Amino acid sequence: QEYTIEQVKALVRDYPDFPKKGILFRDIFPIFLNPPALNCLLNHMVDVSVSFAQKLDNHRINAVVGLDARGFLFGPTLALKLNAKFVPIRKSGKLPGSLVKTTYEKEYGSDTVEIQADSILPTDNVLIVDDLLATGGTCKAAETLISKLGATVVLSLFVIELTDLKGKELLSSPTHSIIEY
Ligand code: PRP
Ligand code: HPA
Repeated sequence: QEYTIEQVKALVRDYPDFPKKGILFRDIFPIFLNPPALNCLLNHMVDVSVSFAQKLDNHRINAVVGLDARGFLFGPTLALKLNAKFVPIRKSGKLPGSLVKTTYEKEYGSDTVEIQADSILPTDNVLIVDDLLATGGTCKAAETLISKLGATVVLSLFVIELTDLKGKELLSSPTHSIIEY
């Protein structure tokens, strides 16, 4: 049975007061319980990415950067479908070897994220992928790391955007969100 993207959107489940009182948590995991829905979502993400890539000289995204941890649910599958490499950005202390790092401010305190220095080349056209855009701090840190390595972010792609938090205003790259709240 084929799913439409509207049917996929309807699978996201809302949890009031999770993980803290006053937060309305949007849960994407019901989509993963349903293979035709997940297939529809992934194909839609590929279509959006390919259409942004049309604006490039070579029409090609060659690197997909996934953000720890739920960006990893989408990154490798999108990378395979785009015939691109997959590169993780991780919270500090998880990746070995020569790293590039950046620290960013969160609601309480700060967080450091890291990328392996030899994983991205200056000529790369990068797609950033994550499950959700909130304040934009995480994705902005990813933009900073990719820019330190000299590459271009073609698109930052999210399954969900919490528009009230105005995360897009913090970002320098083009963005697209499949579901907006
Ligand atoms: C969530 C979400 C994004 C980030 C968005 O991850 O998956 O990565 O927050 O927030 P921002 O736009 O305000 O930076 P979280 O930090 O909860 O980590 P997890 O993926 O490891 O659960
Ligand atoms: N759902 C999932 N992850 C999140 C949310 C949410 O509503 N807000 C911040 N990270």
